[in-house]
Amino acid sequence: MNTLTGIEQDRITELLKNEENMFSRKNPRSRDLHLKGKQSLVHGVPMHWMSNWASPFPLYLKKAKGAWLMDVDDHEYADFCLGDSGAMFGHGNEDVSKVISDQVYKGSTVMLPTEDAVWIGENLQKRFGLPYWQFTTSATDANRFAIRISRIMTGRDKVLVFNGKYHGSVDETQVSMASGKMISQPGVHPNATDFNRTTKVIEFNDIEALDEALSSQDVACVLTEPIMTNVGMVPVKQGFHEALREITRRTGTLLIIDETHTISTSPQGYTGAYGLEPDILVLGKAIAGGIPAAFYGMSTEVAEVMHKYTELDNYKINHCGFGGTLAGNALTLRAIRATLEKVMTDNNYAHMKTMAERFEKGVTDIIREFHLPWHVTRIGARVEYMFSKEAPLNGGEALEANDPRLQAAIHLFLLNRGVLMTPFHNMALMCPQTREENVDKHTEAFRECVKQLV
Ligand SMILES: Cc1ncc(COP(=O)(O)O)c(C=O)c1O
Repeated sequence: MNTLTGIEQDRITELLKNEENMFSRKNPRSRDLHLKGKQSLVHGVPMHWMSNWASPFPLYLKKAKGAWLMDVDDHEYADFCLGDSGAMFGHGNEDVSKVISDQVYKGSTVMLPTEDAVWIGENLQKRFGLPYWQFTTSATDANRFAIRISRIMTGRDKVLVFNGKYHGSVDETQVSMASGKMISQPGVHPNATDFNRTTKVIEFNDIEALDEALSSQDVACVLTEPIMTNVGMVPVKQGFHEALREITRRTGTLLIIDETHTISTSPQGYTGAYGLEPDILVLGKAIAGGIPAAFYGMSTEVAEVMHKYTELDNYKINHCGFGGTLAGNALTLRAIRATLEKVMTDNNYAHMKTMAERFEKGVTDIIREFHLPWHVTRIGARVEYMFSKEAPLNGGEALEANDPRLQAAIHLFLLNRGVLMTPFHNMALMCPQTREENVDKHTEAFRECVKQLV
């Protein structure tokens, strides 16, 4: 018996074996495509992580609509992964898809701004309370540029991140902690980054460590999610955000809030819902109906530096390090505007929250029924179950509580019964098209899985 998770490893092994066999039998077309794909693609997929599912090979997609998707073997799935937030507002949304196809015919990328840009700028001002905005093609890029402008503004090199974070493949953030010390992120080549020069890492919710780390006034910015979502979910301790803001201000450190996942909280993100006051706010993934896009907003003080730094000098070319040829193009802007206007609405969020509450209750009841030392965390439309009695206080605790084999067994069991969860953690997202039947499909399959495991 694993005293931490309450599940025996032998049971996990047996269940994994059965489910892998079932999966292989059920998915001959995906299996064939994967075998063929391996002849020309690394791991048989366009991005290596697309093969990192709990299944022996990935499902290949036929089509996706709303909260459902269908694979090439014609199985239907209730989708709670939703493209790991990229499709948090549903697949193939009618309002967004229509304008995307219209704009493709009218010109996608022309190196000129469109009227939509101005509409979006004004909307983002009202929505998130920051006065100036810029666009990128990914949240990773937005974070990279947020760090760059912070360094330009403060003249400092270091970025402070929290153990267990993920902000995209930003080099300076590829660190972890071991025995209280910073180490290079296991499994990630450091890419010649001298972390002692570029980075500090501490545990989330640790106000004392934060105060100490920033007191030397050599940190340009703190880059953080408002609550951690990439190491399982780590809720924020009462008073932490107030302390974070006070200490960053006192030490002249910029505060970057990455809302890429926590936009699940409300149409104004966690920032709007809880009155945070970041210097820079980053948001990507879900904002353009599946078109790669992100944006970052900044305070007047940061914008002043950015204006000055990026100014054209006597008609000379100025690359200045903030790039992206296709960023903020006509197509992207059209998709973002439609998403902001028609999809990121109070009504849709209210529905997503109701579905998430139903999901949370279903899982909580099963955890209680089987007396498991597990818990559930929810932030708006995002729900996560984790294999510890209490929510972890920080990334270190979250990593310790994880059991990747148990997680894989659950995910594969669910997949074989038509439920798709986000790989790497037990995270479920609700979109405006999620219905009670989707949620209940998960609840029933999850209960059956737990029953077999205990
Ligand atoms: C909080 C957060 N920020 C940024 C990113 C990077 O997003 P992208 O890979 O779309 O650049 C991720 C990706 O998972 C994320 O979770």
